[in-house]
Amino acid sequence: MPQLPKPKIRSATVRSALGRQPQPAPLTKPLNSPRTAPKGSDGGGISPEELKARRRKFLITAGTLYGTFLVGAYYYISYVVGQGGPYEEAKPRDTAQTYDGLAKQYDRIIGRDELFMGLSFWRKDVAKQAIGDVLEISCGTGRNIAYLNIPAVKSITFVDSSAQMVEQTREKFTDRYPKYQHAQFVATRAEDLPLEKKYDTILQTFGLCSHEDPVYVLMHLQDLLKPGGKIVLLEHGRGTWDFVNRILDKSAASRAEVFGCRWNLDIGEIVRKSGLVIDKESRSHFGTTWTIIAHRPGDVMPPEQKKRFLIW
Ligand SMILES: C[S@@+](CC[C@H](N)C(=O)[O-])C[C@H]1O[C@@H](n2cnc3c(N)ncnc32)[C@H](O)[C@@H]1O
Repeated sequence: MPQLPKPKIRSATVRSALGRQPQPAPLTKPLNSPRTAPKGSDGGGISPEELKARRRKFLITAGTLYGTFLVGAYYYISYVVGQGGPYEEAKPRDTAQTYDGLAKQYDRIIGRDELFMGLSFWRKDVAKQAIGDVLEISCGTGRNIAYLNIPAVKSITFVDSSAQMVEQTREKFTDRYPKYQHAQFVATRAEDLPLEKKYDTILQTFGLCSHEDPVYVLMHLQDLLKPGGKIVLLEHGRGTWDFVNRILDKSAASRAEVFGCRWNLDIGEIVRKSGLVIDKESRSHFGTTWTIIAHRPGDVMPPEQKKRFLIW
């Protein structure tokens, strides 16, 4: 008998190549189940608004953690790099000469720290409060110029006790607003400003730390306010955490020596001692960054001004 050819046994791979693919496990949920379907296709699921809210929440949480880490690292590094010897009180002094010497490198040095701490957001917040006739004291190199709402600024007077710092401000401002006619640049101590001209807003950022007598300066500034005027401060000083304050205290003297800035002052206490009435106070970066809006005692604040504070 002739031998019949043995039937060939095909492997699973060959079989599948021939079209009998193994079937995927059945889905437990249909692809367009309500959890994943976009809102509007079947009326359920995560709406774009909800997705947006979740993303925002995630970004805020991540940002806060990142910010906390950065600020902690910043203070720690400042402490380690910045000596951290035994506690020595930073003595108040006239810092004009120190800042004259720092003026040209100031933006480079401070810019790095500010980026690290995200301070441009805080600057933006306070600079937009400057309206009407504005006086910026301790203007430094004009780091708030970029954030001013210039159409709301009727006139602006920049003051600093260091002539070299004011010069940096002048250059920055005229570069940015070459056509603005109502800016003045004055090199004098804030406490020596004459009382003739009065202002709607007095702005100061990171200035109290470098003043010889910050309480006296704030008292003098009250006499420069128009009725209903406000003082807007963005300052750094003592924090709300003991470990941060210990770090600040330990390196205060050496920092003041180099930068002219006493970074462990109790800003709230200084403001209260000056007699100013605080309308709004907020603190961040372990409580070391202070934002304060205040007015002089006895002033009634116009309602539209109150509304601005609510937004802030
Ligand atoms: C840390 S710097 C801050 C500069 C700027 N406001 C900023 O936000 O970058 C402090 C400034 O205060 C100025 N300053 C110190 N004592 C002052 C005084 N009595 N009157 C006016 N300015 C003063 C210093 O010359 C320096 O420019």
